[in-house]
Formats: sequence, structure tokens, C-alpha cells
Amino acid sequence: MTAAPRARDALSVDDAFAADVRAGLTAAGQKRLAPKYLYDALGSALFDAITQLPEYGLWRAERRLLERHAAEMATRAAATHVIELGSGSASKTTLLLTAAAARGRSVDYCAIDISAAALASTRLALAGIAGVHVRTLEGLFDAGIDGALAARRGPVLVLLLGSSLGNFDATASRALLARVRASLRPGDHLLLGNDLRKAEPVMLAAYDDPLGVTAAFNLNVLARSNRELGTDFTLRTFRHRARYNRDTHNVEMHVESLVDQVVHGPGWEATLRAGETIHTENSHKYAEDEIDALLDASGFRVAARWVDAAWPFASTLCAVKPA
Ligand code: SAH
Ligand code: AVI
Repeated sequence: MTAAPRARDALSVDDAFAADVRAGLTAAGQKRLAPKYLYDALGSALFDAITQLPEYGLWRAERRLLERHAAEMATRAAATHVIELGSGSASKTTLLLTAAAARGRSVDYCAIDISAAALASTRLALAGIAGVHVRTLEGLFDAGIDGALAARRGPVLVLLLGSSLGNFDATASRALLARVRASLRPGDHLLLGNDLRKAEPVMLAAYDDPLGVTAAFNLNVLARSNRELGTDFTLRTFRHRARYNRDTHNVEMHVESLVDQVVHGPGWEATLRAGETIHTENSHKYAEDEIDALLDASGFRVAARWVDAAWPFASTLCAVKPA
């Protein structure tokens, strides 16, 4: 006899998400949720919408850099294997892979992303590029890199685009870059995209658009928690907040409680006062010499850099320093 399929309930969801929501909401001090949880299917769709906002200039800046320089990037890296950390909808990636495949050798591409929905978009975006074999791995960046490199036969190029490094704190950024470096060999490269510091109102507007798309992206993490974990966040009692922290150079995203309230989860409850926030994301804004120092400390050297003139954003091609 076959057992009836079990209904999706609090026991069948991602245990890490459940544990992190509980820990992040019940901790003393600043409540927090990790930014990686912003990306369920709806979160990934909302991020794609953000990339189309006039205020979110960083995405178009990086696309312009790739449109102009992908051929040179591909020639310098001469990679037969491309691994992308956090591919999202991969529309910028098509520019690089088209340039890489145009060099005449086939390219093995592997995307690592926590979001199954993002990987479905990645496969769709890259399906038609001749000479490119596409593979996807659902999971965390650091857990997936060795698996993605297991069958390498030639030079590797790792892509970390969109300023995604800036969503990690300083320690985790260094650890991620060192993790990437440890998997690479001399002759391999990393292409790193970093949003640079600019006028504060411009940086802030990119995370607080008048259409409310970023607000929906942010608040969706509470909706996701309700859907997947059975928590009882009342979304209308929260609002999106973005602020620039001049000490850390991070645009911070928070969800702010509008009232005193108690939120319940399976086996826990958390009290929020009116005005109290849950910190959901940092988006670091870089100085060029800061990127150089970070790369140097992680075992890379700058091979080339391109900076967009209209929206300061840096694409840095990083070579592996010998150990
Ligand atoms: N590079 C793309 C997408 C950026 S959005 C661009 O520039 O447009 C960030 C992507 O990284 C999302 O698809 C998200 O699901 C993924 N992501 C975020 N944190 C992650 C983590 N810790 N491990 C794996 N994937 C992650
Ligand atoms: C994916 N990441 C680099 C985006 C950023 O700009 O920090 C995520 C994002 N958050 C709000 N808007 C976009």
C-alpha cells in the first residue's frame, strides 16, 4: 500500500529557514532575517521587476559595461568553464557567454543559486546560445562551488555580478572570496561587479522606489514566512524602510512594525514595539581601493577594471595570485 502524500506543513518546510526566522525574531537586540530568504519564486520575480526601475541604476550600469567590454573580458579570461554565483534571470550573462562562445571553443556554464525560480529563468535565458552547455545547481554559493568545478577541463571564470557581494557583511565577503579563490588555480579568473559610492539620495532612491516594488520585495519575506512556516505576520502592520548608514557605507533594508504587536511562529512568539525594525538586508557601496584591498586579502589581483561613467559601478576582472 502506498502512503498518502503528506500535506505541506510546518514539518516539511526548509528547516534552516524555520530556525533562522525563529532565531532572528526572538533574539535580544536588533531583530534580523538573512537576505538570502528574500528569494522565493515571488521574491525572484520582484527582484527582476526592481532591475527595470529607473531608480535602480546599478543593474543597467553593469549591463552597459558588459555590452561594451564582454569581448575583451572573454578574451582575457579565455575560459572554457564559467560558474555564476547568483545568476537570477541571467540576462546580463548572455552577453558574456555569447562573447566567450564566439572565441570558438565550447563553454560549460554552471549557475549556483538558492532560488529554483531564478534557475528556471537562467535556463530559459541561456537556452539558445550556440556552443554553451548549461547546468544549474540549487543551493548556497559556498556549498556549490566545488561541485560545479568537479569536471573542469580548462580555465575557469567565476561570475559574481550585480553587487551581490555587497549583501554579505565584511567578514562573510572575505570568506566568500577566499572560498572562491581556494577552488581556483592560476590562470582562472573572477569577474566581480560592485556598486560604487555616489550621492546619498541616489543610492537611497535605488532601494526606496515610489512605485513600491522594493517595498514589496522586502515585505515578501514576511509573506513567505507566513506561507512556508505558518507565522502570522500581518503585512499591513509593517512598512518598508531603507536608510544609508554613513559609518558602514551600507544601504540597509528593514521592515518596520507600525504598532506594538506579538507575532507567532511554530513554538515561539516575538514581541515588536511600534517603530521597531527587522533588518533584512545590507547592500554595501564600495570605494575602488576598498575592492582592491578586499581582493588582495583574498588571494586575487586586479587584472582589469571597467567603470560606468553614468552610474559609478565597477566590473573588475580578478586574476588568481599564486598561493
Ligand atoms: N546576478 C544577477 C542576480 C542578482 S539577485 C543580477 O545581477 O541580476 C541575487 C541572486 O542571488 C538571486 O537569484 C538569489 O536567489 C541568489 N542568492 C542570494 N543569496 C544567495 C546565497 N547565499 N546563495 C545562493 N544564492 C543566493
Ligand atoms: C542582489 N543584490 C545585489 C541587490 C542589491 O542591490 O543589494 C538586492 C536588492 N535589494 C533591494 N533591491 C535590490
